[in-house]
Amino acid sequence: MKFAVIGHPVGHSLSPAMHSASFRAIGFDGTYGAFDVTPQDLPSVLRRFAAEGYRGINCTIPHKEAVLPLLDRLDDSAVHCAAANTVLFAADGTTTGYNTDGAGFRLSLEECGFRFAGARIVLLGAGGAARAVSVACRDAGCAELAVSNRTRSRAESLVAELRRTECAARMVDLGGVDDPETCRAVEEADLVVNATPLGLKPDDPSAVPQELLHAGQTVYDLIPVRRETATLAAARAAGARAVGGLGMLVHQGAAAFRIWTGLEPDISAMFSALGMGR
Ligand SMILES: NC(=O)c1ccc[n+]([C@@H]2O[C@H](COP(=O)([O-])OP(=O)(O)OC[C@H]3O[C@@H](n4cnc5c(N)ncnc54)[C@H](OP(=O)(O)O)[C@@H]3O)[C@@H](O)[C@H]2O)c1
Repeated sequence: MKFAVIGHPVGHSLSPAMHSASFRAIGFDGTYGAFDVTPQDLPSVLRRFAAEGYRGINCTIPHKEAVLPLLDRLDDSAVHCAAANTVLFAADGTTTGYNTDGAGFRLSLEECGFRFAGARIVLLGAGGAARAVSVACRDAGCAELAVSNRTRSRAESLVAELRRTECAARMVDLGGVDDPETCRAVEEADLVVNATPLGLKPDDPSAVPQELLHAGQTVYDLIPVRRETATLAAARAAGARAVGGLGMLVHQGAAAFRIWTGLEPDISAMFSALGMGR
């Protein structure tokens, strides 16, 4: 069976190594490639994948939102996140979009022993990944979710959308991390999540000032890299628990593989391929 990740750029993607390791470990006859696809080529590339008998693809930046109108069906997960990171091709070539980012995020934190029920959470960022994380936090039963974003209006619209679904959590929108209201929310939070791209570049600063962090908190950095980001270093230095985004990458990929095949991937092999023991 054929699979791939598409993005622009995509050269940095760890997905091919991660999925290929699991295929080998479970004796699955499959290939997983990576293709750099420009936004204007997205419709024709999707048709080509269908014609070439691909079973599934993952979409990464900038295709997660743009792919939605090109698909035949959307699973609720893609509707709720307004983005799809996983596409399933049926035997007749028709396509269904799913979003497994939120599930990956939640599983990865639960695996570290974090309890969402009753937690106060500050989410930094209001883009596509933040949307998936916010839906996961809301559905996991957090007590409070504060969305902080450099452009406050985007935090406001995300919170307004989240409030449309009935839930017990208090939803708050905040400005950037230099806003005093945001600083207070971060200091009082049980979990701080970086869903901005700060940290993708090795010399990026921490997404949150170290002086706002302290022991007893968990800081989750979505940046899926092997090295320690400045955000994680700040969390560790402040005595907080620091968790990197590779666990989310593995679990969103594992969820995609289950959707494509109905089979169980080898999660340990996926972690090992990223240089992480379990
Ligand atoms: N670990 C995983 O499996 C996984 C899965 C998905 C995504 N991710 C990571 O999540 C990150 C975000 O992805 P995305 O798709 O949500 O991106 P996106 O849609 O472009 O959103 C980026 C968000 O970050 C904010 N931002 C950008 N640059 C900033 C800066 N210099 N300072 C403060 N805020 C900044 C933006 O604020 P404005 O609104 O003000 O522009 C926006 O809210 C990426 O680094 C991606 O690698 C990881």
